Amino acid sequence: MAKKELKLRAVVAPTQTVVASAYDEEGKAQACTLAFYMVSSHVPPCVTIAINATQKRKTLQALLYSKAFVLGFPSVEQVREADYLGVETGYNADKLKNAGFSTSDAVTVHAPIVDEFALSLECEVVHTVTVGSHMQVTGEVKRILADERILNEKGKILLDKLQPIIYDEEQFRYLSLGGKVADAFRLGAEMKKSLE
Ligand SMILES: Cc1cc2nc3c(=O)[nH]c(=O)nc-3n(C[C@H](O)[C@H](O)[C@H](O)COP(=O)(O)O)c2cc1C
Repeated sequence: MAKKELKLRAVVAPTQTVVASAYDEEGKAQACTLAFYMVSSHVPPCVTIAINATQKRKTLQALLYSKAFVLGFPSVEQVREADYLGVETGYNADKLKNAGFSTSDAVTVHAPIVDEFALSLECEVVHTVTVGSHMQVTGEVKRILADERILNEKGKILLDKLQPIIYDEEQFRYLSLGGKVADAFRLGAEMKKSLE
């Protein structure tokens, strides 16, 4: 197959769309939509987000001030509100109020939980590093709050109930999850065994 060299860029598609929320220095809840999000440690559980540091984002200022944030996972039914939180700035508007969202205090950190999101991670900022345009902020997950309706009887999160929003930066659009392809770690283990 012929290959083509592409214009230099960080290819991020697909990523999950999340919303980081934090209290600013006046105690007001700020929030913005992020696609740059990853799981960065199992023990202790940590997640890392990357926020443009050159543009003085309100949510970045807030989470650096309070050294804490909550990561909320909007579902596909909330795509309009999630997109809004990613195109407006807290310098101009009360975004969470305009989106019709309410907040509650997180229990383990000083940060606001967006009540309408089915899954929220309370995070304490434990590390920051700036690489190019973005500051990578690692948060240690201190508490996980989930709507019961997205859990199975073992307390595992059902992604088909959570219905996360997948962001496609190549075509600037949102997608929903596709179906199951295979059981993870099984096919590879079977293949490994067959080659022994
Ligand atoms: C789908 C989507 C994904 C985004 N991902 C990021 C991201 O990962 N990092 C970032 O710095 N900004 C990202 N943004 C842009 C911010 O959400 C946007 O600049 C927002 O207005 C910042 O708001 P604030 O100033 O209130 O913090 C994204 C926007 C959208 C719509």
